[in-house]
Amino acid sequence: MTLSPAFLDELRARTTLSAIIAPAVKLTKAGREYKACCPFHSEKTPSFTVNDEKGFYHCFGCGAHGDAIRFLTDQRGMPFMDAVKELAAKAGMEVPAPDPRAQERAEKSAGLTDVMAAAQAWFVEQLAGTEGSAARDYLAKRGIDGATAARFGIGFAPDSRGRLKTALAHFGEDALVESGMLIRPEEQAKDAYDRFRGRLMIPIRDVRGRVIAFGGRILGPGEPKYLNSPDTPLFDKGRTLYNIDRAGPASRKAGRLVVVEGYMDVIALDRAGMAEAVAPNGTALTERQLMRLWRLDPQPVLCFDGDAAGQKAAIRAALRALPHLAPDRTLRFIALPAGQDPDDLLRERGAEAVKAALEATEPLVERLWRHEAESEALATPEARAGLKARLMEHSGAIADPNVRQLYRDEFLRRFDALVRPQRATFAPRPQWKKDRAGKWQPPAAPASDVARAIGSGGIDAPTARALVEGFVLFPQALHDHLEALAHLPLGDRPSAALRDRLVEAALAGAELDRDGLATILALGEAPLAGPPAMGFSFTRRDSDPARAVSDLAAAVEIVAAAQEVETALAAATERLKINVTDDAYAEQQRLMAARSRLHSRLASLAGNE
Ligand code: UTP
Ligand code: MN
Repeated sequence: MTLSPAFLDELRARTTLSAIIAPAVKLTKAGREYKACCPFHSEKTPSFTVNDEKGFYHCFGCGAHGDAIRFLTDQRGMPFMDAVKELAAKAGMEVPAPDPRAQERAEKSAGLTDVMAAAQAWFVEQLAGTEGSAARDYLAKRGIDGATAARFGIGFAPDSRGRLKTALAHFGEDALVESGMLIRPEEQAKDAYDRFRGRLMIPIRDVRGRVIAFGGRILGPGEPKYLNSPDTPLFDKGRTLYNIDRAGPASRKAGRLVVVEGYMDVIALDRAGMAEAVAPNGTALTERQLMRLWRLDPQPVLCFDGDAAGQKAAIRAALRALPHLAPDRTLRFIALPAGQDPDDLLRERGAEAVKAALEATEPLVERLWRHEAESEALATPEARAGLKARLMEHSGAIADPNVRQLYRDEFLRRFDALVRPQRATFAPRPQWKKDRAGKWQPPAAPASDVARAIGSGGIDAPTARALVEGFVLFPQALHDHLEALAHLPLGDRPSAALRDRLVEAALAGAELDRDGLATILALGEAPLAGPPAMGFSFTRRDSDPARAVSDLAAAVEIVAAAQEVETALAAATERLKINVTDDAYAEQQRLMAARSRLHSRLASLAGNE
């Protein structure tokens, strides 16, 4: 039975909590509250408080916390309804009779879940039977083995208008129609018939693993490719995410949740060992789906096809997410090569390629920026103003004030770097100090000794060279990243030396254009000799400046993040040496995964062009 929130609120309001707790615990008045030794853990000095105004108890020792109902269920071990009845009796309230319609609805959906379970079992039987041979061939052709088909409960609907109707007749025609398994024609005289005919049947499950709908794929060419269940009392398309029941637990293990476009992509990822994927049902991600995703993971990875449609869907999701962004709530993006979905990628290039693709994620801010900056030529002031307006509109859509401000700053910085190419001067930040010789000095590195943590070698030589060279070739990036650059632990001596001179020149207030800088630093064509530069855009003179600057920013960010991860990883490993706990182990594994993600992001940045 369900009680309305209004009834429960009234009940709480009419209950004096201390009077409920007093028989069990000796309470002492302390200001507006009561204090006591906590009944939920053993203690000698009281850390349990009861607040009648708020109607809550709280223990500062063990964290026990709740209202009157909770106290009766947890401390006295009463069933929820009994606790409610006892409190209602004391408060002189009547417990409302069960809402008959709610009851009816609950019973009806319970009935429909039985229909769906029976339908699924029947489809699985048909797939195994003689009529299922074409469907089995189809599965084999797509590389879906028997175990995978069984894991996903895949079945087959024979090409007939009445087979399912007959097989499930005992549920009654009304239930079969309501569950969406039969179609009842408008004209009264005509008979209801099977909705799914001659299709591979993919069951769609709810969070608890119950089948609530089907996606039926045609075996050959034909339209529609997928026929889905209509919305029913069980199935609300805009709320449902395919595979959520399996992906939820898997995402906790993997530390990641992936959103792909299609059923087959989810199944492909699962076959490649990644069970943490869900898909919407062929529609744009709704707000309700985003909320469900965020309940499982703070930064789900959207992995859509690289073609126009897939990327449009990604941008729509990004825009829909904006109002809800928070420090622990965002999206990450992966663009697959145009015309490829994860399923194609797996078949053509194998599981490792899929894994690598999933590591190279792009943050939301970057994805939106790229979308807008690439959307049109910026040859005129009007076009540039348009870009700026769109960016400000996006950041303005963010509800969280801090995140909104930071997006705004970030967009403006990128915008400025883009429209003011090749030239920038450095203005010292407030936290920079002049030393005795009158030179600007950056603040000391953060407390953690990053240089030690990433090993005596620091950042590897090729990356160090590429980064420093990038700043020489695209000095407009210095403005934003001077501090980061000044602190990078560059093991490679020549890189470190050039970096120091570069920072010094910037701090001296030099005009930071490429040629001027080359003169000041007395640089030749190739400032840093060594192995050929890695394939970063910013190590090529002729790269698009906007792209180079944004890649350089990304590379610095990755390297800086990698340092933090290394520090944390060193600490976690130490902790693990002292005391092996599940948590410490999980933490270490999480950090190792983070490290490998950062490494592949850097690698993909180097290989992107
Ligand atoms: P896709 O065409 O990308 O599907 O559509 P897919 O899963 O990769 O299918 P295969 O590999 O061609 O078999 C993405 C999703 O859009 C919905 C389905 O949910 C599908 O998984 N869709 C697509 C439909 O509902 N109806 C359609 O006709 C097509
Ligand atoms: Mn596909």
